[in-house]
Amino acid sequence: MAGGIGTRFWPLSTSKFPKQFHDVLGTGQTLIQQTYNRLKKITDAERIFVITDKIYTDLVAKQLPEMEEMQIIAEPMGMNTAICALYSAMKIKKINPDANILLCPSDHLIMDEQKFAEKAELALSNLSKNNGLYTLGIEPTRPDTGYGYIQFIENDQEIKKVKTFTEKPNRELAESFLHSGDFLWNSGIFIWSADTIIKAFETYLPDMYQSFKNIEDDINTDKEEKQVKKIYPTVQKISIDVGIMEKYKKVYVLPSSFGWSDLGTWTSLYENHDRDKNRNAVVGNWVRMYESKGNMVHVEGKKAVVIEGLEDYIVVDTEKSLLICPLNSDQEVKKYVNDLKLNK
Ligand code: GDD
Ligand code: MG
Repeated sequence: MAGGIGTRFWPLSTSKFPKQFHDVLGTGQTLIQQTYNRLKKITDAERIFVITDKIYTDLVAKQLPEMEEMQIIAEPMGMNTAICALYSAMKIKKINPDANILLCPSDHLIMDEQKFAEKAELALSNLSKNNGLYTLGIEPTRPDTGYGYIQFIENDQEIKKVKTFTEKPNRELAESFLHSGDFLWNSGIFIWSADTIIKAFETYLPDMYQSFKNIEDDINTDKEEKQVKKIYPTVQKISIDVGIMEKYKKVYVLPSSFGWSDLGTWTSLYENHDRDKNRNAVVGNWVRMYESKGNMVHVEGKKAVVIEGLEDYIVVDTEKSLLICPLNSDQEVKKYVNDLKLNK
């Protein structure tokens, strides 16, 4: 999935050039390139698909030149992740009715790719034994309100049955989940068979399901684009988490620890970035820091920047915009950007 705008990562991430197409960690690879290479370790390159807004298909093709045109699924507009899951499953099922799918974000960091591959393969191999919707869960470390929380039923197996799935709880609830100890974060990496996820839509988002069922024969033909363009503006704009995962009865989770980060906010980037002896994470060749500690500073271009006496702040300077705010307050960035319509 590579159609999100990454609003909380403004001003680096913009609707014209979202986060997944940036090399945010300075590794020489953009996040979508890292994701593609990671997935190539668990499947053949020709089985990887990208689903994204049509305005980003050129960017995808440029950054992933190995991909064939038919592997890049263009959405007429961004309508959140539920429809992504359904549309991609419909297309894949048409190619192979027995297909299993791993659906994942394009903008995450995973440090231990071997461990990730082991968990993904375990979930995939389990689908034939115990059909359901699977997700990889991460041990939570803070009451973050930007994630889904999964409560599971304890057993001595690597795969646990999910009791409750709560997408983006409020702060109070997130704190109680964290302290109770039997919750995991949803990593947003899902594993299911094409058939099962499509049936889940039939039950829980029947209108969306019906829209695609009506055009089933046109999928993967010349008529598809026109038909899909008609459907998209009519569907509910809802995430897969709220639309399906919170309601589905047979959800399973694999507790995982592979050095995962959503890289959703500047604070999460700060936590995963190299830092100097004063705990400053600095990107930009012309930045000089004095008496400053624990800051995330990102300056583009050749501008000389001097910072003195600053502690625990985010400073991001791009050609067009400047953001200055305290670390850990950056869930708010989304609100500012939306209020001021900055992401145009
Ligand atoms: N094609 C497409 N179309 N992709 C989309 C769209 C869309 O309309 N909207 C979002 N995406 C992509 C994003 O680019 C990202 O790669 C992925 O789908 C997930 O979307 P986010 O918007 O980043 O979701 P989130 O981070 O708020 O929440 C999800 O991920 C969390 C973990 O990072 C949920 O699954 C949470 O439960 C989970 O904890
Ligand atoms: Mg995200």
